[in-house]
Amino acid sequence: RGQPVDFEIRVNDRPVPHREREAILAEPGFGRTFTDHMITARWDEGLGWHDGRLEPYGPISLDPSASVFHYGQECFEGMKAYRQDGGGVALFRPRVNAARLNRSAERLAMPAIPEATFLKALELLVTQDADWVPSGAGESLYLRPLMIATQHELGFTLPSRSYLFVVFASPATAYFGPGERLRPLTVWLSEDYTRAAPGGTGAAKAGGNYAAAFAAQRQGVAEGCDQVVWLDAAEHTWVEEMGGMNIFFVLDEGGGSRPRIVTPPLTDTLLPGVTRDSLLRLAPELGLDTEERPMSVPQWQELCASGRMTEAFACGTAAVIAPIGRVKGAGGKGWTVGDGEPGPVTRRLREELLGIQYGRLPDPHAWVHKV
Ligand code: COI
Repeated sequence: RGQPVDFEIRVNDRPVPHREREAILAEPGFGRTFTDHMITARWDEGLGWHDGRLEPYGPISLDPSASVFHYGQECFEGMKAYRQDGGGVALFRPRVNAARLNRSAERLAMPAIPEATFLKALELLVTQDADWVPSGAGESLYLRPLMIATQHELGFTLPSRSYLFVVFASPATAYFGPGERLRPLTVWLSEDYTRAAPGGTGAAKAGGNYAAAFAAQRQGVAEGCDQVVWLDAAEHTWVEEMGGMNIFFVLDEGGGSRPRIVTPPLTDTLLPGVTRDSLLRLAPELGLDTEERPMSVPQWQELCASGRMTEAFACGTAAVIAPIGRVKGAGGKGWTVGDGEPGPVTRRLREELLGIQYGRLPDPHAWVHKV
């Protein structure tokens, strides 16, 4: 996978003034403000990765002919740096993101980036902009690694022969509102649109997947919902994911059995979430059973009606864990999950995950990566 790239350091001599940064950090929101620096590295056919740089955050200049503008060859990652309870800053399972970026790149006929280069890039940026990591409850520095095709050529015979890798950072509160207030989501079952089909790019974190999701997302918002639930392409029956998040169901059948968290199995139409994977590993340690199995819309509704499904939640790096209170679909279809409020299993998993990420709880899986 090639030699790791060296990064030249070009420190920003006009950083955001201290007071302005403090004002931003007091109420960061999500993805609205950006730190003083970014990482760039270039790839050219025959040369591999080169010209790694830490440089001032700012516009990137590209010709209108650059292939990313036409054929959408782009993939990205979502990660966070967390201010640790014991001091310092840490990433969470960054190697998993490196591996996923490279799987996305492979699907999009883009070059792989060596894991060591990916980690170095993140460590450099987070170290340089450490003062930008907020310290409020549930807050973090959101990190966006991405790769784009930069060839100035419109031919559609072969993929681009040059690429740009970028990482930039943005202070963030939890995606669905500040701090510890857990507002249950209302979700929209998308039956008109399809996110991903077998053999497509659904398992890649490709910008194009998100572009194609906005029409459905807008429809969902018009129906009073927060997020879309994507269904399978063939039958529009099987629940897959939520576009920017994976989905879990909590079944509690009583009779002395343990509560069970259920999520659809990974196929090539689902994004393999880092949070999804972490929760499947954590749950057994918290006395929960886990199951990866398909869930249909009628099953979902029936399990809620019979009381066996007590909770559902969305999870992702940006979203963390967000309870789902209500489900809506075309033709006035709709139902409440459990009592519509954040449930104990959702809360417990969220506390455990955040506890590990912020260094408040032991980290038996060595997920926390100090920078
Ligand atoms: C993330 O959770 O990091 C994502 O990339 C989701 C994004 C749509 C906000």
